[in-house]
Amino acid sequence: MGSNPALPFSQASENNKLPILETVKPYLSTVNSVLEIGSGTAQHGEYFAESFPRLIWQCTDIPAHLDITQQRISASSLVNLPPAKPLNVDDSDWNCGRYDCVFSANSLHIMSAASVENFFRGLNQSLKKSAWLILYGPFKYSGAFTTESNARFDVWLKQQNPASGVRDFEWVCELAEANGLSFQIDNPMPANNQLLVFCYA
Ligand SMILES: C[S@@+](CC[C@H](N)C(=O)[O-])C[C@H]1O[C@@H](n2cnc3c(N)ncnc32)[C@H](O)[C@@H]1O
Repeated sequence: MGSNPALPFSQASENNKLPILETVKPYLSTVNSVLEIGSGTAQHGEYFAESFPRLIWQCTDIPAHLDITQQRISASSLVNLPPAKPLNVDDSDWNCGRYDCVFSANSLHIMSAASVENFFRGLNQSLKKSAWLILYGPFKYSGAFTTESNARFDVWLKQQNPASGVRDFEWVCELAEANGLSFQIDNPMPANNQLLVFCYA
């Protein structure tokens, strides 16, 4: 896959896409459809759609960011990477259909806490029975950051938006359980991130 310098680009996505691919392989190898929430530059969508040609990867983002997400999708010729759909987790009707997996990277710490609750509340509209939920990003444990750099990242996030912040693993698990998802595994990832997997009962 050639990189096009004219397209929206995130160095973090470029760095984490291979470690994420290696970790999600057991889950994505067996599914046909993925809904991605908060796709951003669509680098994950492009990479995973190319890596798993038999699954449809549906990118989404909030309407105000959809053009950013769509640019890379339009430039790609991947038939399993359809046009991005607008999705704000705060909307009561997601209107995106049902999928075998929902994937979201680095979005929960950008959203407000209320939006994180809406994210989990809305998932039952989009998950098929036994679907996976895969979340990638930094988390706190028992209220503590895993590293100094994640603590500094949290300060930086709150300077950009006081409603943002690194979320508590335990709180995320509580929200998941309350919305019909059972926790499967917490994979430690490079750069002080985690990849959490849940299953929708
Ligand atoms: C830090 S970016 C991560 C982008 C991409 N997933 C990645 O890992 O590079 C956070 C994304 O969450 C999206 N987002 C923020 N609030 C949202 C909401 N309420 N509903 C859906 N997406 C949201 C942003 O528009 C943005 O694309």
